[in-house]
Amino acid sequence: MNLILLGPPGAGKGTQAKLMIENLNIPQISTGDILRESVKNETPLGIKAKSYMEKGLLVPDDIVIGIVEERISREDCRNGFILDGFPRTVAQAEALENVLKSMGKRIDHVISIHVEKDELIKRLSGRWTCKNCQEGYHEIFNPPKKSGICDKCGGELYQREDDREETVRKRLQTYESQTMPLIDYYRKKDILRQIDGRGEIKEVFGRILKVLNIGQEAR
Ligand code: AP5
Ligand code: MG
Ligand code: ZN
Repeated sequence: MNLILLGPPGAGKGTQAKLMIENLNIPQISTGDILRESVKNETPLGIKAKSYMEKGLLVPDDIVIGIVEERISREDCRNGFILDGFPRTVAQAEALENVLKSMGKRIDHVISIHVEKDELIKRLSGRWTCKNCQEGYHEIFNPPKKSGICDKCGGELYQREDDREETVRKRLQTYESQTMPLIDYYRKKDILRQIDGRGEIKEVFGRILKVLNIGQEAR
């Protein structure tokens, strides 16, 4: 199953992807995580990407398309993958379609997670992420057992630099202007599955499994 998780910053794409990995046994491909790793390691790509990311802007299409093209051609993606945070522009969506076509593949479902703005800001301002395994937490909604330490791997938790309020507002604007058009784009292709992202993490996950099952039965 080849899936896309679409949604604004803080909608829960990363959180849900982690649950889906266990259930579906296919890898998560988060362009945000890959870019942050490059920034941390100060690779040429990371140095270029940093200036966009810290402003809440999108990294140029050619960079992220190259990353995804390389990543989905790896062996572990043969039975499927979960794209988290890609595509984010129509140009990225079109490039993805061409790459997949050349591999004899296609996207099965685009899961679009909807959460309103005030809630997104609350979620991002309390987010903590594991430095080691990227597991996500929230200081109120989803706290780790031991403050500052990852439940899964014992790694140290940190707050993302782009989760400062001004940057969050810019990221939300960027989403509205550049990524929201993808909702219509995928609706027209009849693979859009819209999900209510409010409520408990497990509840949202249940909604995702439900649309995926319905999707599978329909085929
Ligand atoms: P990226 O890392 O993709 O960030 P994003 O899209 O802004 O999304 P987030 O990771 O902030 O949110 P999420 O939906 O994963 O939420 P999460 O599950 O963590 O991108 C970062 C930057 O990289 C971009 O700004 C851009 O510069 C660049 N970039 C990346 N991809 C790109 C691309 N394709 N093209 C160009 N540039 C690109 O949840 C958030 C918080 O809420 C957590 O604390 C979590 O515990 C909590 N939470 C989750 N679900 C619930 C719930 N149901 N109830 C309560 N709390 C919840
Ligand atoms: Mg994320
Ligand atoms: Zn961890």
